[in-house]
Amino acid sequence: MPDIDGTNEAKQYFTDVPQKSESYFLKGSNSLDWGMKNRLGRIFNPVSGKTVMLAIDHGYFQGPTTGLERIDLNILPLEPYADTLMLTRGILRSIIPPDTQKSIVLRVSGGTSILKELSNEDLAVDIEDAIRLNVSAMAVQVFIGGEHERESIINMTKMVDRGTRYGIPTLAVTAVGKDMVRDAKYFRLATRICAELGAHYIKTYYVPEGFETVTASCPVPIVIAGGKKLFELDALKMAYRSIQEGAAGVDMGRNIFQSHSPIAMIQAVRAVVHDSETPEKAFDLYNTLKNKKS
Ligand code: R5P
Repeated sequence: MPDIDGTNEAKQYFTDVPQKSESYFLKGSNSLDWGMKNRLGRIFNPVSGKTVMLAIDHGYFQGPTTGLERIDLNILPLEPYADTLMLTRGILRSIIPPDTQKSIVLRVSGGTSILKELSNEDLAVDIEDAIRLNVSAMAVQVFIGGEHERESIINMTKMVDRGTRYGIPTLAVTAVGKDMVRDAKYFRLATRICAELGAHYIKTYYVPEGFETVTASCPVPIVIAGGKKLFELDALKMAYRSIQEGAAGVDMGRNIFQSHSPIAMIQAVRAVVHDSETPEKAFDLYNTLKNKKS
């Protein structure tokens, strides 16, 4: 039906309002395609720019890790508090309800166990299966300085190429060999190599000295792994410092699921990551929630 008059038409087209052209909220991600950005925006909260990924993939090389013996009983209750679940396809298909609204970061490298040389990984998931599982990113372990450094880097670049075809980001997970020094110099090297070779975001460890140089020299977002279980307040301090020094979130496992109260701990971690709450206040929250439960 034709418009009643020309004035009405001019109003509906808002000819005097230019269309906004906004930059994407995540560091180094502005030139990515729509699907990549949409998926990253399901991992990182567009309001805070941060993420709390719950890492539960440890079984892929070390079997039933403490706290992960029964993912159905111990981990599903944590799911509502995580932004993202980071896990293997075996656990995803067998235990995670398909109606979950949480984004999934799928571990796609593997092939070794704690009984052998860990860096000798290959790609262990086809891109087609990652698509089928509707994942928001794929995680590949990269062993800079490790025995199979080259193969692990190429695993990552292959997934970057395959994921780019379908708009699925790749998370490079920097693994540090037992005998290697975990310092800012090493992590600057490892994270920068992964970013230069196309990783869309990178998981690394927090170091107390110079972590801000690691985040500054890496052109894409960095999230930190939690590492071995610490006293809850110390884990919250680590998460807090990492965020203040430029991390875009955590991909935390043992410090959540091995906590005395995992549900309280994940909420305390959220407060530090998304609300920049101080570790002391987050620890108070942890204790309050823990005591409420008991
Ligand atoms: C190793 O199994 C994985 O990369 C974990 O996802 C990673 O180490 C994070 O878990 P955690 O916080 O327990 O170190």
